[in-house]
Amino acid sequence: MTTLLHIDASARPGLSGTHAHGSHSRRLGHRFVTTWRAARPQDEVIYRDIGATPPGHVTGEWIASGYTPPAEREPWMHAVLAESDALIAELRRADVLVIGVPMYNFGMPAPLKSWIDNIVRIGATFDFDRSRENPYVPLLAERHRRTVLLSSCGSSGYGPGGFQAQMDLLTPGIASPLALLGLTEVHSVAIEHAEDPGDLLDRSIAEALDRVDALVGELQAS
Ligand SMILES: Cc1cc2nc3c(=O)[nH]c(=O)nc-3n(C[C@H](O)[C@H](O)[C@H](O)COP(=O)(O)O)c2cc1C
Repeated sequence: MTTLLHIDASARPGLSGTHAHGSHSRRLGHRFVTTWRAARPQDEVIYRDIGATPPGHVTGEWIASGYTPPAEREPWMHAVLAESDALIAELRRADVLVIGVPMYNFGMPAPLKSWIDNIVRIGATFDFDRSRENPYVPLLAERHRRTVLLSSCGSSGYGPGGFQAQMDLLTPGIASPLALLGLTEVHSVAIEHAEDPGDLLDRSIAEALDRVDALVGELQAS
């Protein structure tokens, strides 16, 4: 059995094409998971709507707790880290991480940054070993996990070779911390022109949905 961890990060509820003012990135995530389950109904899907319920921010107490060795933690430290523990446990269970994410101001929405800040934790998902040339040790590399980034943006040209590719802080902002943990395989599908309803947006949605369907087939076959 394969386990999918499906995360939605849009502040907008509902799906574009179905609900008024619905989210394009939620639509792609919904399409990915329903297409996956149609072929593999036995697989498990863990769902987190962090757009609706954002994880807590990292605080001074969080940092003090996270950097205290587990055996030395006081009860309040375990309480502070409880949400991080739960989010990390979900990620550990997952074989495929599916993230539906809008572009906000060239990067990711704050709730997704909070999720990343909660799952990137020393001693839990990565370690630091000064004796190595690269001191970072990924702790989620014990088996291969794949990441699927399903994004939406109002403009266009953020992809490799695009006219504003250097402005894309979304993809590297997510891919870099995941690579630190050992999740190095990232597949991206984006809807562009979301702020310009018309032919360009319609075509972009149709192409993105086709790419999602194809990607599900590729991942299930490999
Ligand atoms: C707060 C905010 C910031 C945005 N910043 C950008 C941006 O930097 N670049 C861009 O192309 N579109 C930007 N957009 C447009 C969104 O990326 C676009 O509407 C996208 O479809 C939102 O995702 P969703 O449909 O899943 O909610 C922004 C939208 C909002 C609400």
